Amino acid sequence: MSKSISGFSKLSKNQKIEWIIKTYFENSDVAENIIKQYWNSNERLQQLHDEFIENTITNFYLPFGIAPNFLIDGELFVIPMAIEESSVIAAASKAAKFWLKRGGFKAEVIATVKTGQVHFTFDGDVEKLNSKFESIKGNLISEARSITQNMEARGGGIVAIDLIDKSDSIPNYFQLHASFKTKDAMGANFINSCLEQFAKTFKREVDPSLGSVEIIMSILSNYVPDCLVRAEVSCPIQELKVGESLSPQLFAEKFIRAIEIAEIEPYRAVTHNKGIMNGIDAVVLATGNDFRAIEAGAHAYAARNGRYSSLTHATVEDGIFKFWIEIPLALGTVGGLTRLHPLAKIALQMLGNPTAVELMKITAVAGLAQNFAAISSLITTGIQQGHMKMHLMNILNELEASDSEKKAMVSHFKTNVVTHNSVVEALENIRS
Ligand code: MEV
Repeated sequence: MSKSISGFSKLSKNQKIEWIIKTYFENSDVAENIIKQYWNSNERLQQLHDEFIENTITNFYLPFGIAPNFLIDGELFVIPMAIEESSVIAAASKAAKFWLKRGGFKAEVIATVKTGQVHFTFDGDVEKLNSKFESIKGNLISEARSITQNMEARGGGIVAIDLIDKSDSIPNYFQLHASFKTKDAMGANFINSCLEQFAKTFKREVDPSLGSVEIIMSILSNYVPDCLVRAEVSCPIQELKVGESLSPQLFAEKFIRAIEIAEIEPYRAVTHNKGIMNGIDAVVLATGNDFRAIEAGAHAYAARNGRYSSLTHATVEDGIFKFWIEIPLALGTVGGLTRLHPLAKIALQMLGNPTAVELMKITAVAGLAQNFAAISSLITTGIQQGHMKMHLMNILNELEASDSEKKAMVSHFKTNVVTHNSVVEALENIRS
């Protein structure tokens, strides 16, 4: 049977399901039931989700959890997190509680500037293009006014537009490199609309007698090193009592060494930063923000000096342990799905309806907490003990354990090491 289809997007939702079932599934009833089981019985809510994207056939749930006790700049927060990985929220909560007793987290937004570019080719005299650009810069801005006026009223708008000659990298390649402030919006639509208007104005204004302008594309950049937040924790070394196995002094030494390793060793840095993104992505998703944009921007920033490196850093000076993160986070609290997805709206309400700047701080703190928890485990008990304890329920569900079996297993594994095999064995024991 042919697996290609034309006009698919025009089919109804049921027709789409019918097609996928008959084309790709042998046990069609089971597959159809599973797909439909995830439909929301509230038809309006389901329609909202259907209309987020094209070709929706069902919903894909992620757990939405909360991590309490985050003291950030003197204010207590409960942080909403959407994540499937078992140990992430437990780790965040543990780190939050640890730092709650040690002054909490401090956070500061360093800058909020975002970038977009019109990429084009030009085959004429560069000097003339430069002077033309200077003379039409005002027009570029004024012709975008219908797009920028609301943003300007909110305190954002176009910050600068520059003409950049990139012809030493690609013949005839130039850019209009623009920077923007987008207040509480992530700003992708705003920036892209401005850029497309700049491209139109620019193309029209540069007379062909100067040379021919060919617009290649106009698009924001998800590399946002000037939309940067820093979050930090600190305490006297003697207060660094984490678990029983290490003295505070040795804990601090091993912790700093672990960070140094991530700073110089890309293999470790990627995993280290992945752990940070466990916390960051979970908040980004819960608040209806674009985690792909945040991921791309964060990893590019981690490689900004030419070698992929750690997003967190730590020092001990004068007996004070200090641990911090610096990360670009282009987040929004208006626009996109932030107010449209009912759970994202709830997540933002839980956080006290933060501004984008406040959400940047909270999100950076979630990443820092996650990294603190991961490094603390790695340099003491190892990661598997806590991770597998949290993963126990997944293994039990995979083995279709009943509620009473789960209870017995949780109690058994309070004092035994969780591995896939040990769970299978222990479950077989109580079943026989
Ligand atoms: C697992 O999701 C994340 C960690 O690997 C992070 C790290 O190694 O720092 C535990």
